[in-house]
Amino acid sequence: MTMTATGPTTTDFSTLRWEGDIDGRLWLIDQTLLPTEYREINCRDLDAVCEAIRMLRVRGAPAIGVAAAYGVCVGLQNGAGDDRTALDARLEAVIDALAATRPTAVNLFWALQRMREVAVSLPADTSVEEVRQRLLDEARAIDAEDRQMCRAIGRHGAALLADGQGVLTHCNAGGLATADYGTALAVFYAAQEAGKTLHIYADETRPLLQGARLTSWELQRRGIDVTVICDSAAAQVMREGRVQAVVTGADRIAANGDAANKIGTYSVALAAAAHDVPFYVAAPTSTFDLSLASGDEIPIEQRAAEEITRGFGRQTAPEGVAVYNPAFDVTPARLIRALICERGIIEPVTTARIKEVVA
Ligand code: MRU
Repeated sequence: MTMTATGPTTTDFSTLRWEGDIDGRLWLIDQTLLPTEYREINCRDLDAVCEAIRMLRVRGAPAIGVAAAYGVCVGLQNGAGDDRTALDARLEAVIDALAATRPTAVNLFWALQRMREVAVSLPADTSVEEVRQRLLDEARAIDAEDRQMCRAIGRHGAALLADGQGVLTHCNAGGLATADYGTALAVFYAAQEAGKTLHIYADETRPLLQGARLTSWELQRRGIDVTVICDSAAAQVMREGRVQAVVTGADRIAANGDAANKIGTYSVALAAAAHDVPFYVAAPTSTFDLSLASGDEIPIEQRAAEEITRGFGRQTAPEGVAVYNPAFDVTPARLIRALICERGIIEPVTTARIKEVVA
């Protein structure tokens, strides 16, 4: 693979990958450095994995889930002891630490629960080594399933878009946000593979600029036409008739279809409704949380004020000013034309239809 300072010249990059056996290593692309520097980092211990998730070195709901699953394997490389009781205690401590990193993306908790269930299902006399092997197998399965789900999402979603359309997206729901290929961006990739030409408008996505830094980086690599806009330009872009659809990802979708995604998504959905532009949300079933009746119950991550007042180094607000920095918002189901998951298209977005497809 040819590399440049900003990464592979092909689409062939691994957002995260496990190298070796149970004593192997977790590698992640440090996404905080993109688009100007492409660097893979090795998360040597549990603290490093937690830090990488908290600081958004690895981010995007499905990728956080996969990272947490491998993070369990990393966490058990130290302090697990030789006996099963010590291992089980360490496993719970590792899961608790990973679960405390970010609250909104349900994929994190979903993946950790899958890991816990593997250990719980193994008889008490199973060796520590065997338990660790089975946990690594499960993490690899979560990784592989995510790749498959993304491909299927792309296939289903591509049918909703027509050749020549302009499409707006918010944040980054691409290969960098998943094990590979993405959710919202998978729809664009699959449309391209089906011979359709799209023009994508990528909201820059304040305050951490996942759209400007990551979505445009990915789309350029795939040879998809992309234009970065300020978040506040989205309504004007719709008014000018430049986009015929909006596709975003999600971090958690409640039983009624309300969908949490990166802050600013709700405003985009409102603007889309005002301009009669269909608004689609693409997400795997691992992002649905049917235990929550509505989006009102989705925990919204609050992040540091400095992300707004000193984003990327320069001070842009007066010292000591009050800041409110929710990292996500909730788009009500009534604004979502359809949900695109690996099992197909969910339309209309109702509790009954979601239950039918996802439960
Ligand atoms: O804070 P981030 O960068 O983790 O937020 C990511 C998003 O909001 C994505 O749109 C979402 O996780 C879907 S990723 C397929």
